[in-house]
Amino acid sequence: MNRCVIGLQWGDEGKGKVVDILAEDSDVVVRYNGGSNAGHTVVVGNDKFALHLLPSGSVRPKTVCVITNAVVVDPEVLIGEIEGLARRGITLSNRLFISENAHLVLDYHKKEDQLREESLGKKKIGTTIRGIGPCNSDKMGRSYCIRMGDLRDPIGLEAKLRSIVEYKNKVFTAVFKAEPMDAGPILEKCKFYAGKLLPFTLDTTEYLHGALGRGKSVLFEGAQGTMLDIDHGTFPFVTSANVSGLGMPAGSGVPAKMVDEFVGVAKAYTTRVGAGPFPTELDNEIGQYIRDKGHEYGTTTGRPRRCGWFDAVVASYSVAIGGIDSVALMHLDTLTGLDELKVCVGYEIDGKQTAFFPANIDKLAKAKCVYQALPGWKDDITQLSDFDRLPSNAQNYVSFIEKSIKKPVTMIGVGPNRSQTIFRR
Ligand code: GDP
Ligand code: IMO
Ligand code: MG
Repeated sequence: MNRCVIGLQWGDEGKGKVVDILAEDSDVVVRYNGGSNAGHTVVVGNDKFALHLLPSGSVRPKTVCVITNAVVVDPEVLIGEIEGLARRGITLSNRLFISENAHLVLDYHKKEDQLREESLGKKKIGTTIRGIGPCNSDKMGRSYCIRMGDLRDPIGLEAKLRSIVEYKNKVFTAVFKAEPMDAGPILEKCKFYAGKLLPFTLDTTEYLHGALGRGKSVLFEGAQGTMLDIDHGTFPFVTSANVSGLGMPAGSGVPAKMVDEFVGVAKAYTTRVGAGPFPTELDNEIGQYIRDKGHEYGTTTGRPRRCGWFDAVVASYSVAIGGIDSVALMHLDTLTGLDELKVCVGYEIDGKQTAFFPANIDKLAKAKCVYQALPGWKDDITQLSDFDRLPSNAQNYVSFIEKSIKKPVTMIGVGPNRSQTIFRR
């Protein structure tokens, strides 16, 4: 059984937890998109792991972990994660494979990310400043790139790096009036990265097709959420890659038809970090209640997440373009205590009602949400493992979401721990 896990909202839906659970039945877990802008949390007993580049299967000692071509790899973050896990007794030797074609995020990308955001002022995207946009821009531009495999050739690497830094310095000084960078320290760092990461580097497309041919079970771990997709999200307030189900084949080199089940992950409400439209946002005490109760602060940047009601228009759209088969609904416990809950079932735009998400921010700015109100529940649900024991209003809420998005909810999160999950199959 091969599966792919995809975020259905604006990221941080709880994908790390779902991947960790599904990894139990998988031989290989694959990160195929994004970079260290992602922050995926896994909680096992008293241990908490926040992973940015390593697949969430890495905390399981025997799971093979693969980072494929389309992941933009910040070597410093990746080395930090590998060594961080080693300090906790989890070693990745012989079970981590990094694509030789993955592009490297280097210091000038992070500097450029910051300079671009500063220059946009109030119009800034609110990026994670992890260098993701600049690295992907360079990748599409093709002329100024370093990939993992380039670390194998120190002489070629030096020539490439010097010409890139020369070009970047022209941009930094002329466009942004910023200080130029020195290529020397970046080159030294690359030599260090080579020593640490080349032992894990190979052709991951060949590896994955070999593993699939041997009947191994592969789990693909999407980063971000569909609303942040460069082509299908709330552009320009998105990340710089395909993060929906459409990104999986391009990112990994494995065709989507080899995936048996696409699992969408959504929170029982909605959150977003960074700027951009958010139709169901609750900029009030209910939003604050959800933020406090759900600990809604970014895993990567620590920024407070914006919170709002569940948006079935958003989730249905993500289900449609992601080819989603089943849904994991997380953080149901966070809604406990609210008297009344609302689900957005349609938008009214210019006097017309629509249930299909318009991926155009001018239209979205005019969207008025059409809500269905549902009664809340008060009883603690964090220790429950059986759907039938949930308060009836919680059961009705889940059923209403299933009906709205026309997909079965097969997993329900009732707390951050691996064990705090209700399964329904
Ligand atoms: P990801 O980016 O989709 O992997 O999600 P993050 O890890 O960035 O954010 C999800 C947060 O919610 C993490 O702190 C998780 O530990 C936590 N979490 C996941 N599922 C649940 C749940 O069902 N209930 C609660 N209360 N917390 C959860
Ligand atoms: P996970 O995988 C939430 C958001 C940023 C910003 C926009 C662009 O943990 O769900 P970028 O640094 O990618 O150029 O920023 O995208 N963003 C995320 N938001 N979760 C993520 O990943 C995100 N990755 C990027 O906050 O709004
Ligand atoms: Mg996250």
